[in-house]
Amino acid sequence: MSKTKLNVAVVGATGAVGEQIIGLLEKRDFPIDKLKLLSSARSAGTRVTFKGQEITVEEAGPDSFEGIDIALFSAGGDVSKELAPHAVRHGAVAIDNTNAFRMDPNTPLVVPEVNADQIDEHQGIIANPNCSTIQMVAALKPLYDRYGISRIIVSTYQAVSGAGSRAIDELHRQTGEVLNGNAANPDILPVGSLPVKHQIAFNAIPQIDKFQDNGYTLEEMKMVRETKKILNDESVLVTATCVRIPVVYGHSESVYVELKEDYNLEEVRSLLENAPGVTVVDDPANQVYPLATDAAGKNDVFVGRLRRDLTNERGLNLWIVSDNLLKGAAWNAVQIAEVIAANKSK
Ligand SMILES: NC(=O)c1ccc[n+]([C@@H]2O[C@H](COP(=O)([O-])OP(=O)(O)OC[C@H]3O[C@@H](n4cnc5c(N)ncnc54)[C@H](OP(=O)(O)O)[C@@H]3O)[C@@H](O)[C@H]2O)c1
Repeated sequence: MSKTKLNVAVVGATGAVGEQIIGLLEKRDFPIDKLKLLSSARSAGTRVTFKGQEITVEEAGPDSFEGIDIALFSAGGDVSKELAPHAVRHGAVAIDNTNAFRMDPNTPLVVPEVNADQIDEHQGIIANPNCSTIQMVAALKPLYDRYGISRIIVSTYQAVSGAGSRAIDELHRQTGEVLNGNAANPDILPVGSLPVKHQIAFNAIPQIDKFQDNGYTLEEMKMVRETKKILNDESVLVTATCVRIPVVYGHSESVYVELKEDYNLEEVRSLLENAPGVTVVDDPANQVYPLATDAAGKNDVFVGRLRRDLTNERGLNLWIVSDNLLKGAAWNAVQIAEVIAANKSK
């Protein structure tokens, strides 16, 4: 059967995530009739090449979605809150990369390898989880299914691209300044909208997003809440420490997971090797393990450093790495869009 061609809008088309979405739509030969690229007034008029044709980026507004079937949002939570309902009003399915709707009980929060069945439950909007959460749950799902999970303790080492294209520029600029003996003059990180900034070049910043009343950052609480929602299991105990490091692409995570049943390490390896979207990279004798530099530009989640906790028989340590702009954002969103497109072609 021939594929139904769809009209697709990308909101935030000039951003770090939006650029990857456009690249994936082309690479995957997504069945597109018309592609509409939207940004703020700042970038309206920019020309972007898609499949050899130039498309002019337009300013996004409530009436941008007429005739659109799928609208992919990555322009910040406020833009999604304002415009995603307009996309739905025009009959589009909105796939949202921001935090705006993730915890809304009527909005499915989807990692296709974990809960693709939720896609059909949408009422117009489908949320893409936080980048750090996506890669963790994609890797842990086969272990959850086989043994059950009682507790997760995660520490992240997150790339600057997770804070957008201006944060990438900031790391490049600061690195040059510091190497030349000049002041770093931080301007963006850790949080653009907060007054205090910290140097990211040659540093590690234990703050991603704003602090909450409980002493955790919003990024850390996203990992806690979203993991439970995606696994549909409030009983899983999760605690997170999220750290920004001077890497451009690819988040790394040290994950300690306590399983509910006794496990066999070789079976764990085999479960992960057979898990969709997961690649095991684990040969310590030859110094082989997942690296952000290797994961960059790839869609998979890479898992290694598999080892039993020496103090708890049911404890397991893993190192999980993935490209935050791809599986952590654009690829996960395009996977969801592909399911919707396939359903429309049935
Ligand atoms: N980076 C990641 O790893 C990642 C992962 C998951 C989710 N996300 C989420 O995705 C969103 C975008 O992230 P990003 O990293 O791509 O940021 P970014 O590089 O800063 O890009 C932001 C994009 O949003 C557009 N935009 C800003 N204000 C707008 C407005 N009022 N109306 C329409 N478009 C507007 C910008 O257009 P202009 O060029 O006109 O400014 C740009 O295209 C954020 O909500 C972020 O939390 C990011």
